[in-house]
Amino acid sequence: MLIDIIAGARPNFMKISPIIRALDTHAAAGGRLRYRLVHTGQHYDPKMSGDFFEQLGIPAPQINLEVGSGTQAEQTAHIMMRYEAILLKDPADLCLVVGDVTSTMACTIVARKLCIDVAHVEAGIRSGDWTMPEEINRVVTDAITSWFFTTTLEATRALTSTGTPEDRVFFVGNTMIDTLLHNLDRLKPPSFAGEVGLTAGDYIVVTLHRPSNVDSPDNLAALINAILDNTGDMPIVFPVHPRTAKTLEKIVTLPDRLLRVGPQPYLEFNWLVKNARAVITDSGGVTEETTALRVPCMTLRTSTERPETVSLGTNELLGTDPAALPPALNKLFAGEWKVGRIPEKWDGETAERIVEHLVHILL
Ligand code: UD1
Repeated sequence: MLIDIIAGARPNFMKISPIIRALDTHAAAGGRLRYRLVHTGQHYDPKMSGDFFEQLGIPAPQINLEVGSGTQAEQTAHIMMRYEAILLKDPADLCLVVGDVTSTMACTIVARKLCIDVAHVEAGIRSGDWTMPEEINRVVTDAITSWFFTTTLEATRALTSTGTPEDRVFFVGNTMIDTLLHNLDRLKPPSFAGEVGLTAGDYIVVTLHRPSNVDSPDNLAALINAILDNTGDMPIVFPVHPRTAKTLEKIVTLPDRLLRVGPQPYLEFNWLVKNARAVITDSGGVTEETTALRVPCMTLRTSTERPETVSLGTNELLGTDPAALPPALNKLFAGEWKVGRIPEKWDGETAERIVEHLVHILL
């Protein structure tokens, strides 16, 4: 039985890594599930892709669709055309997609139209924010997915309350947290940490890449200045996403205290997060990692598809107005940030549960 595992963009790679490991263990024990790794090429820079394969021990993809950059429609169309050609020549028995990126949706549509079942890992989460391409990707994917693996009971309920049959939805936990826990002892400081003298608990990590925060130089500058103005002398470590880099070039006056570095590899990035005083981000995945590591997290978005990181975890939704940052940072430095709890089944064994279900589904 052949499973196509689809990965396209950076946040996919940490989600597939434990599933691949669990499938390898299954095969080594005589199991009959096999996989074919399909990289769509949505992210192609070594810093956005190759470094993650290497550090997380993901094997080289059997197929690379090499779609590269483009508009939402261009990327979707190219992925669909190229993946369809693969499946027509060499069909799989199941297509396994993860997360909410364009590659997730595009491959789901292709597989289902060729009557191939799809399993969606991280199904059922919703932000309600229709300006995000990810929300459209989630809703379209889940509308036609065959089997649903969820990170929380809330996501399970969101699916079943809108008509998804209960026997197709499995609450398994979070594969991103599998990867984090599996690699906790391997996290390592980036080379610049020593050079600039970063001390644990004495710097802040910032990641920003949502179009609403980073596409306008004025907006981005206002957010960065609000962070700088309310953090004293503390170093601000800012791993810059390619989209953000383009806007940052247009902002001329930025102090050295804002340490602008390229996208970090997995082990270095999570070392930075684990040892940070706090993280300020507009990523969804990072809010899960900060919750698991119990690091205070401020999210510069008006909504989240991961409400458990707020209700249980260390995350607070600040919105996108820079005026929300001073009170939040004051609370942090007063030592009043919540400690947080770990959501159910974020225990490092999600991929094994997924493979058990796949065995029942396919064999
Ligand atoms: C994508 C995902 C988003 C995820 C993010 C993580 C969608 C809709 N969005 O957004 O959910 O949080 O990845 O990074 O799928 N670029 C490079 N090198 C690369 C990849 C991209 O320079 O390897 C450039 C592109 O040319 C483009 C920009 O970065 O200018 C954005 O890339 P794109 O893949 O369109 O979306 P992301 O914003 O990365």
